[in-house]
Amino acid sequence: MMKGRFITLEGPEGGGKTSQTRLLFEQLRNEGFDVLLVREPGGTPIGDQIRAVLHDHTNVGMLPNTELLLFSASRGQLVGEVIRPALERGAIVLCDRYADSTYAYQGYGLGLNVNALRVITAFATGGLLPDLTFCLDLPVEEGLRRKRMAYESGASEWNRIDARDLAFHKRVHAGYHELVKRDPARWVVVDATQPFEKVAGDIRQHVDQLLASMKG
Ligand code: TYD
Repeated sequence: MMKGRFITLEGPEGGGKTSQTRLLFEQLRNEGFDVLLVREPGGTPIGDQIRAVLHDHTNVGMLPNTELLLFSASRGQLVGEVIRPALERGAIVLCDRYADSTYAYQGYGLGLNVNALRVITAFATGGLLPDLTFCLDLPVEEGLRRKRMAYESGASEWNRIDARDLAFHKRVHAGYHELVKRDPARWVVVDATQPFEKVAGDIRQHVDQLLASMKG
């Protein structure tokens, strides 16, 4: 039985996951919580090396199965080295993307069999599931526009996966909605076209409910 709480932020490109996760992390830390912030792929020295391979534009020949296994390998390392120990000591772990990204991007986006992905993910993570997952939802075109603007201003990268076509990103977006439908108790969908502070407020409200259950 894990003493901590595991919260993940998900969604298509450009929804502000990284900024929102960072803000939530800073708020909770300032309030004295034992809280940890990690991101995927990466979050460990080994995972960061895998991330570089995954994002490298020159890796044009990467097969979907290879991509899936690399994301899963990075995740397995992160869970074993960082997330599980933190949850065992009672921390709150915030993760900027987790296994649902694999279902959305490699499953719905690339067309790999989602049930096979579940088996591989369970193997990689030892079956660790988030307690709460946010989907920062916005129209695909708007998300890609925001991401490209952030890239052009130097605030964000434009990686091998961002560069996929609109149809891919639309399948990812629809995939997230399918995932929410399959497991509504774990998910909260937040409208990411709202002002940043409003999105943050919506997230915080649900996090507070989860943290209340921690004390109880
Ligand atoms: P990142 O720069 O972290 O993107 P974002 O800011 O959108 O989170 O890059 C992660 C990219 O990798 C992003 O395009 C989503 C993709 N991804 C997958 O395709 N599968 C996965 O399992 C994960 C974790 C990410």
